[in-house]
Amino acid sequence: MSSQIDHLLDETRQFPPSAEFADAALASPELYERASADREGFWAEQARELHWHKPFTRVLDWSAPPFAKWFDDGELNVAYNCLDRHVEAGNGDRVALLWEGEPGDERRITYAELTDEVKRVANVLEGLGVGTGDRVAIYLPMIPEAVASMLAVARLGAIHSVVFGGFSADSLRSRIDDAGAKVVITADGGYRKGRVSPLKPAVDQALADRGDGEQQTVEHVLVVRRGENDVDWVEGRDLWWHDVVPSASSDHEAQAFPAENPLFILYTSGTTGKPKGILHTSGGYLTQAAYTHRNVFDLKPDTDVFWCTADIGWITGHTYVTYGPLANGATQVMYEGTPDAPHPGRWWEIIQKYGVSIFYTAPTAIRSFMKTGRAIPQKFDLSSIRLLGSVGEPINPEAWMWYREVIGGNTAPIVDTWWQTETGAIMVSALPGVTATKPGSAQVPLPGISIDVVDDAGVEVGNGNGGLLVITEPWPSMLRGIWGDPERYKETYWEKFEEQGYYFAGDGARLDADGDLWLLGRVDDVMNVSGHRLSTAEIESSLVAHESTAEAAVVGASDETTGQAVVAFVIIKESYLAAHEPAGLAAQLRSWVGEQIGAIARPRDVYIVGELPKTRSGKIMRRLLRDVAEGREVGDTTTLADTAVMSIISSQVK
Ligand code: WTA
Repeated sequence: MSSQIDHLLDETRQFPPSAEFADAALASPELYERASADREGFWAEQARELHWHKPFTRVLDWSAPPFAKWFDDGELNVAYNCLDRHVEAGNGDRVALLWEGEPGDERRITYAELTDEVKRVANVLEGLGVGTGDRVAIYLPMIPEAVASMLAVARLGAIHSVVFGGFSADSLRSRIDDAGAKVVITADGGYRKGRVSPLKPAVDQALADRGDGEQQTVEHVLVVRRGENDVDWVEGRDLWWHDVVPSASSDHEAQAFPAENPLFILYTSGTTGKPKGILHTSGGYLTQAAYTHRNVFDLKPDTDVFWCTADIGWITGHTYVTYGPLANGATQVMYEGTPDAPHPGRWWEIIQKYGVSIFYTAPTAIRSFMKTGRAIPQKFDLSSIRLLGSVGEPINPEAWMWYREVIGGNTAPIVDTWWQTETGAIMVSALPGVTATKPGSAQVPLPGISIDVVDDAGVEVGNGNGGLLVITEPWPSMLRGIWGDPERYKETYWEKFEEQGYYFAGDGARLDADGDLWLLGRVDDVMNVSGHRLSTAEIESSLVAHESTAEAAVVGASDETTGQAVVAFVIIKESYLAAHEPAGLAAQLRSWVGEQIGAIARPRDVYIVGELPKTRSGKIMRRLLRDVAEGREVGDTTTLADTAVMSIISSQVK
């Protein structure tokens, strides 16, 4: 951490917006003034952009921190805000989703059509007994049914828990169990990298009796046919979407729910082995989702075509595929597959085909395109692009410049957006048309958001210095807790700066001389691989669950394309070595982790070693292992119980 902070960034280029862009932009410097003059009044104004069945009179209740309530005497329906109200305003014929399947099939779905579909799904779910507060797990590919399912659950005042389709049966099971889901919505399979990747078998496995006498909470599985692959069927439990949804009624009146009614749970990795169910509620979340989507992306719903490449399994997909764009009545592209299937120019082809004007993706994707070269995007007409966004990890200035030149035609502003699953929506970003952008800096808190960089004691570090990123005031889309574990919520985010009442984000950051923020990566045991959060502890516990492994230590090592890569050091049991050949074991362990957690968690390298570096109190010194993994000279080893251990490990790794 300190080595990262000491590393001074010498990037000084600045790109002010063109006069033309600034003149037409939605955001203006006045937004900052309004927000700082009256923060709560400002958020109330933003909230009033939504439709409230019952208007709120209270803005923020912070009487029992860290548990916030926003707009809590108001009532609304989240799905109504994303659908019906656009139809009622005469925009039913506007396209909501320009969906493109990986094999090239396409569907254009208008707001009127999506509204009808969501009403039908809501009726089906209601028929299955789903009501206010019930949990529905969604395990789907990037198909329109995924968005429709989320909104149908929201329409009923129920709670969705979307599980990324790349997660394993085990990961799915633990999420279903933790949330106590009543229904699972899945598909037979979806297209990835040119072939059908099955999903239903993982659901079957996750719901299989595990002989521990524990009661299964799932009563029904609703299955979309997408991959046309063969599936097993449990009569009475499983239902085909196409058997029940098209025939359901499309009459469904949206009920009003309190602003603090839970909307969704989304699991994310923390510093311990067990993923945390981050809980978001309705009114505040939707307010900030819509506000940020409008202002950060300068959205003109009549003319723009928005495309956020995130999967709905992640928070970015929740806020900037489903809720933000639809609350704002945007037209957006949704793409099922991988960026390189069937050819490496697939994304650029989609931008050209649909005339995408606002494009939001992750630095890891940009870096992998840089690797394959600019000739590929240059074969396509990308002139429709007028604004670019980046999210998920720090974007290095080289990638930023490439993004600007090759994808943005040297004119489109880039907004580098910092936020988290926990923050629900964007917190730090340039405002297009207002901010002069700097390659590599996420820049400034949005109007209405209060952020600071402090030292370990919670004291502001001031411009020119590095420290820890904190959020100093509650914000509307903040997490309301960790599902079923209020203590963990307090400990994880609020204990460190309890005295000051700051939210601790877990990120290191630096303020430059102008007061702009530069994010420096996580300061805890959370890794960021291709913009996805992974916990070292979670992967370690998966490794030691393998019969061969006695001990394991996992570190995030810097990687040119993925930002960080998972590198594991494992000690093999003597008893195992006595009976098995060690050859091929590293490869076996890699795929083991992939099966246990999901392909994104599969270590890049597994090193079999005889020892792990530990302090006298038995704590593993990951810092030293990171040195080895990154091929550096090993740092200070004087606090190790056995100082010779690192040279043994280094030689074993070579
Ligand atoms: C990192 C994704 C630098 C950060 C929306 C944060 C970033 C974690 C940026 C949250 C950015 C996200 N610059 N770092 N623009 N955006 N991060 O929950 O470490 O998947 O804490 O949310 O990603 O990841 P999460």
